[in-house]
Amino acid sequence: MDLGLKGKSVIVMAASKGLGKATAEQFAKEGANVVVSSRNEEDLKVVVAEITESTSNDNVTYKTCDVTNPNDIKELVQFAADKYGTVDVLVNNAGGPPAGGFENFDDAAWQNAFELNLLSFVRAIREVLPYMQKQKSGHIINFTSSSIKQTLDNLILSNTFRAGVVGLAKSLSQELAKDNILINTIGPGRIDTERVRHLDSIRADKLGVSYEEIKSSTEASIPMGRYGLPEEFAKQAVFLCSSANTYVTGQTLLVDGGLVKAL
Ligand SMILES: NC(=O)c1ccc[n+]([C@@H]2O[C@H](COP(=O)([O-])OP(=O)(O)OC[C@H]3O[C@@H](n4cnc5c(N)ncnc54)[C@H](OP(=O)(O)O)[C@@H]3O)[C@@H](O)[C@H]2O)c1
Repeated sequence: MDLGLKGKSVIVMAASKGLGKATAEQFAKEGANVVVSSRNEEDLKVVVAEITESTSNDNVTYKTCDVTNPNDIKELVQFAADKYGTVDVLVNNAGGPPAGGFENFDDAAWQNAFELNLLSFVRAIREVLPYMQKQKSGHIINFTSSSIKQTLDNLILSNTFRAGVVGLAKSLSQELAKDNILINTIGPGRIDTERVRHLDSIRADKLGVSYEEIKSSTEASIPMGRYGLPEEFAKQAVFLCSSANTYVTGQTLLVDGGLVKAL
C-alpha cells in the first residue's frame, strides 16, 4: 500500500525518545520531511543523526520546543512551515504527568498536568490549522494512553487529562471535516519505553518487589504476553496520518496487545 507520505511535512512533538522518536523514524522511512522536537537540543541532534542513518532520509531536522511554552510551539510550527512549505501532519505528544492519586496533588500540579497533557495539544493544533485549512487537507494524531478506555491506578492526572484530549478530538473532528482535516487519538497500553520502565520501578518500590517481578506480572496480564515495541505503536500512528486514511476521523485506537477489555 502506498502511504503517500513522500515529501509531506510532518511535526512530531516530544520526539527525543520513546513513542515520539519511533514515530518520527517511521515517517522518515516513508520519505516524509520530518521535524522532531523536545526540550533537550543535544538529544535531538542525536535523534536526527540516528534517524537519518537508519532511513537514509536527509530531510529530518529538529527544533527545540517545550510543549508547555506557547511561544516555543508557535516557533516550531513556523520553522516547519518555512523549511518544508507547509504542515501536513501534526503528531501531538508530551511527557507523562507524575504518578499519584488525588491526595498527592495540589492546584499547581493539576495546572501543570493540564498545560502539559491537554493545553499543549490545543495550542499546537491552533498553530497548524491555518496551513491545513488553506490546503484543505491535514492529519492530526494525539498520543494519550490506554486510560482513555480504562483508568490506570495511581495515575489520576493522566486519567483526567487524556480523557479531555478525546473530547477535544471528537469535537474537532466535527468542525474540521469540511476542510478535509482528520484528527484521531491513539492510546498505548504498555509499550517498552523509558516512561514505562520508570512507572514499573515506582510500582516495584511501592510494593517492595523487584522491577523484573512487576514486568513479568504485567506481561502476564496482556493477552499478547509481552510489552509492545515502540515501532509497533508508531506504525499505527503513521497509517492514521497517511493518505491511506481518508475517512477515519474522531476515533480512538488502543495499541495494547489486547490489554484493555472495555468495548
Ligand atoms: N509507553 C507507553 O506504553 C505509554 C503508555 C501510556 C501513556 N504513555 C504516554 O505517551 C507519551 C509518550 O510516552 P513515552 O513512553 O514515549 O515517554 P518517554 O520515553 O518518557 O519520552 C517522553 C518524551 O517527551 C519529551 N518531553 C517531556 N516533557 C516535554 C515537554 N514539556 N516538552 C517537550 N517534550 C517533552 C521527552 O524529551 P525531553 O525530556 O528532552 O523534553 C521525551 O522525548 C507520554 O505522555 C506517556 O505518559 C505511554
